[in-house]
Amino acid sequence: MVAYRSSMVERTELPSRGRRERAIEDAGYNVFNLASRDVYVDLLTDSGTGTMSTDQWAALLGGDESYAGSESFEQLEESVRDVMGFPRIVPAHQGRGAENVLYGSLVSEGDVVLNNTHFDTTRAHVANQGAEPVDCPAPGAFDPDGEGDFRGNFSVDRGYEVVDRVGADRVPVVILTITNNSAAGQPVSVENTRRVREFADRIGATFVIDACRFAENAGFVRAREGEFEGDPIADIAREQLSYADALVMSGKKDGLSNAGGFVALREEDLHEQCRQRGILYEGFPTYGGMAGRDMAALAVGLREAVEEGYVEGRLERVRTLGNLLAERGVPIYTPTGGHAVYVDAGEVFPDIPPEAFPGQTFVCELYREGGVRGVELGSFAFPGADRPDLVRLAVPRRSYHREHFEHVADAAAAVTNRENVRGLEIVSEPSTPELRHFTAELRPR
Ligand code: F0G
Repeated sequence: MVAYRSSMVERTELPSRGRRERAIEDAGYNVFNLASRDVYVDLLTDSGTGTMSTDQWAALLGGDESYAGSESFEQLEESVRDVMGFPRIVPAHQGRGAENVLYGSLVSEGDVVLNNTHFDTTRAHVANQGAEPVDCPAPGAFDPDGEGDFRGNFSVDRGYEVVDRVGADRVPVVILTITNNSAAGQPVSVENTRRVREFADRIGATFVIDACRFAENAGFVRAREGEFEGDPIADIAREQLSYADALVMSGKKDGLSNAGGFVALREEDLHEQCRQRGILYEGFPTYGGMAGRDMAALAVGLREAVEEGYVEGRLERVRTLGNLLAERGVPIYTPTGGHAVYVDAGEVFPDIPPEAFPGQTFVCELYREGGVRGVELGSFAFPGADRPDLVRLAVPRRSYHREHFEHVADAAAAVTNRENVRGLEIVSEPSTPELRHFTAELRPR
C-alpha cells in the first residue's frame, strides 16, 4: 500500500485582491489568459500538472536520447505490456498526437465514429478526417442531480440506433473513453466494456479505448462493481483494457507525467500503418515526439498508477474536495468523478441566462474571490450544445492538500452566496467556434 510524503515544494502566493481584480480584467475575463504566477490554486486541468515521484525523476536522469533504438523506448514498451497488456506501441508527444496517428489511420471521409462522449480533441480529430463524431452517453449522464454508479457508460442501444440509421459499413471505429471526461469524469463498468466489445464485433468495427484515466476507472470498478470487489487494481485495469483492439493514451493523466502519450496496439498491420503515420507527424517510432527522459519517466509513472494505495488516495482526494464544497452549500455534480469536481453554475446563478454564461461568470468570480482557477464546460465552451452550465475543478495528481481544498471550498461558497452578480458578454472571439473558450475575450454585461 503506497502513500507519499513531499520532498520538494513549490512556492505559490495568493495575490492581493486588487491584483486579482486587475489580472482578470486584463485577461479579458478568460482564465486561459492568466499568468500562472497570479493563480493560487490551479484546478484548470489534471493534464500534465501532477507531481512526479523521486523514482520518476531518477529514471528521467537516465533517459536515453538516441534518435533510434532508445533504451527508454524499450522501458516504455515493456511497461505498457506489463500494465496495459498491449504488445506494441507508437509513441506520440501527447494524447492528441496519438489520436491523430490512430484516427488518421482508421477513419475516412463520410464515416461515423461512436464514443460514449467525445473529448474535444477526439471530436476534432474525427471531424478533421471528414467523419462525423456521434456521442452515445448513458441516459442521464449530463444530469448533475442524477444517480448511478457508472454514469460514464456507453449506451449500446444508442449505438445500434445510429448503426440502423447510417449502416454498419460507415462505422469503422467505436471508442470508449474511461473515465468519461466530458460527462463529469464518471466511470465506465467492465460489464459495459464487454457489451461494447460485442457491439463492435457485431458491426465489424475496431474497438478503441481512450485510456487517459484507466487507473482511476479501475478504482471505481473495484469499489462499485461486485465482481471485482477486493481484486488488485492492476488486474482490474488489465482486464478492462483487454477487451479493446487499440488504446489511445495521454501520459499526462494516468501516466503521472508532464508530457507524452502513445497508441497501443495488438495487431501487426494496424501497428505498421500507425508507425508510418507516426513518423510523419510525431517522430521516429522509438521516440515519437517525446524526449528519451520523458519516455523513461512515463514508463515508471504507468507502473505507479496501478500500485495499491495510489488510486484510492487519488479518488479520496477528489471526493474530499466535493464534500467540502457540498457541506458549504455549493451545488455539485454527484457522485464526484475521478479527476475533478463539477460545480453546477446554472444552479448557482439561476438569473443569469445561458447567453450570459453563468459558468464562465462563476469561473471569473472564483478567481477574484480566491485566486482559484477552474474551467467552464457549458454554454461558453460548447456553444449550441444542450448541456448544463458546469464548471470543472480538476485536481492535479499528488499536488494539492486538504488546506488547498478548504480554501477552494470557502471561495466557492462565498461566490455561491453572492447576490447581484451580472453575467458576461463576448467582446472578441476566434473564427473557430469549437475552440473559442481558449482565446475569446469577454466583459461584464
Ligand atoms: N482524451 C481525453 C479523454 C482527454 O481528457 C484528453 C485531454 C485527451 C484525450 C488529449 O490528451 O491533452 O495529452 O493531448 N484532456 C485534458 C483536459 C487536456 O484538461 O481534460 P492530451
